[in-house]
Amino acid sequence: TDPALIRNFCIIAHIDHGKSTLADRMLQITGVVDDRSMRAQYLDRMDIERERGITIKSQAVRLPWDGHVLNMIDTPGHVDFTYEVSRSLQACEGAILLVDAAQGIEAQTLANLYLAMNADLHIIPVLNKIDLPAAQPEKFAEELAGLIGCDPSDVLKVSGKTGEGVRELLDHVVQTIPAPVGDADAAARALIFDSVYDTYRGVVTYVRVVDGHLGKRERILMMSTNATHETLEIGVISPEPKVSDLGLGVGEVGYLITGVKDVRQSRVGDTVTSAVKGAQEMLAGYEHPKPMVFSGLYPIDGDEYPELREALDKLQLNDAALVYEPETSAALGFGFRVGFLGLLHMEIVRERLEREFGLSLISTAPNVVYRVIMEDGKELTVTNPSEFPTGGKIAQVFEPVTKSTILAPSEFIGAIMEICQGRRGQLLGMDYLSEDRVEIRYTLPLGEIIFDFFDQLKSRTRGYASLDYEPAGEQEADLVKVDILLQGEAVDAFSAIVHKDKAYGYGVDMAKKLRELIPRQQFEVPIQAAIGARVIARENIRAIRKDVLAKCYGGDISRKRKLLEKQKEGKKRMKMVGRVEVPQEAFVAALSTD
Ligand code: GTP
Repeated sequence: TDPALIRNFCIIAHIDHGKSTLADRMLQITGVVDDRSMRAQYLDRMDIERERGITIKSQAVRLPWDGHVLNMIDTPGHVDFTYEVSRSLQACEGAILLVDAAQGIEAQTLANLYLAMNADLHIIPVLNKIDLPAAQPEKFAEELAGLIGCDPSDVLKVSGKTGEGVRELLDHVVQTIPAPVGDADAAARALIFDSVYDTYRGVVTYVRVVDGHLGKRERILMMSTNATHETLEIGVISPEPKVSDLGLGVGEVGYLITGVKDVRQSRVGDTVTSAVKGAQEMLAGYEHPKPMVFSGLYPIDGDEYPELREALDKLQLNDAALVYEPETSAALGFGFRVGFLGLLHMEIVRERLEREFGLSLISTAPNVVYRVIMEDGKELTVTNPSEFPTGGKIAQVFEPVTKSTILAPSEFIGAIMEICQGRRGQLLGMDYLSEDRVEIRYTLPLGEIIFDFFDQLKSRTRGYASLDYEPAGEQEADLVKVDILLQGEAVDAFSAIVHKDKAYGYGVDMAKKLRELIPRQQFEVPIQAAIGARVIARENIRAIRKDVLAKCYGGDISRKRKLLEKQKEGKKRMKMVGRVEVPQEAFVAALSTD
């Protein structure tokens, strides 16, 4: 395709402002999906995405429109997946900034707009959901225009649901977004912006060609790993994969398959070039995302450890933000310490491992990364609470902090400040976006906002507040490790690092929870919460004599055997912690973040 006829754009928005619905309409209106095959959230290919109604992965799709080729990339809206968004932006020249006409500008509207402006994209401001009775298109057009610095009449108005205004929007994309520029005669250079593992076809790599041309049966070179491969298939997604015999030229977005099975060979952010007379200089890749939250992941059945490793390898290909390394826990056996971008990311990864790879997993309580300086000057990076040094030799502990932005109607200012102050927040500033909407900025410890902060914020503002945060260095804090002991023995999986003021509450809650969750044993089991050697809470599980055979009078051997079998089955789902049998459910329930 002539690059002059190509337009590459993405849709960015706050969560739930209607990106996926608008993308659906575009598929229909451009005729790449006929009405009969249309289903909601067409591009959300994962079951989890469809069930939760959220987009996790970006999707690229090619749409024919008015003699042009549009490559549209649907991106996720949640703050944990900002990384996916910033990658998609690099494959585009323009962005549709979508805003719900009944809600107005929200925290991720701003965050994504800034990302797009940094990437030098042409921005098309669009109000969506104008079919809603509660829509206030005039008011929010003004707000949006003020934000971008355009005229309110330049703000387009559409409904992804009814399709109103979508044709005009597509025309506008063709008219205003610049065509890609690249050197068609230069050596091929294509940026890998995503890749997935497909059981039948091996690794599928998604690329945007910047210079030159990539064809079928061509030897290609992955520049960062120096691996060479042959392209077995090359094509575009529209909306299903379509082989392209002509290959991909300047500005085009598509996929290639090399038959490679080793998932590490195709790195997101790498540059693909020809193996013969290839390019010398790589394209600017991606900044590697830094994991913010860590948790241990363990197979419930210890034999599944190798499967877990393989599953993580494969998932990492599709999720470049995922990092992990092996670790062992006295309570849980062999597993991995896994780094995530946030709690939603953590939930999604765990769910994908369980669903796509058939594993049953336990995850330990999530924590952020601490930097501990000892009195002798030694420095430790703690990603696992059980590695937090005990004893009096700690000089300083540093915790990560964020710059958090909260947008809400001004009547909630008081409530928001109260929540933030309760979490050791420091007010940075406040601005009015309009008469009745404010933007409040705080420095907040990451450890304080990743748990239930957002839920609290939502409930205290009747759902009206939105939150975005970005890492902003670290600060010194008064943190301690709380251990949980069963029968005097610390259970590493339950240890947590908490602020001194909250340590007591954490200890009491955990001891209570465990008393409910652990069944009575043949002997008494004391549960204690302790900071170092100091016990701060205590509960007791009373002893019981469990004699399952007592119920079988006399000689019914087969019934006795069945009962014993059953008891054995039950044992399998128990973890021995010292002499105490702890059911898997207890780990799962005690460590769940509710
Ligand atoms: P994420 O992918 O999770 O970021 O969400 P999204 O921005 O893709 O939003 P989605 O398209 O899933 O829409 C969110 C909700 O708004 C759904 O319940 C849609 O049915 C609804 N919705 C989307 N567009 C419109 C519209 O134009 N009009 C009305 N009335 N509802 C809409």
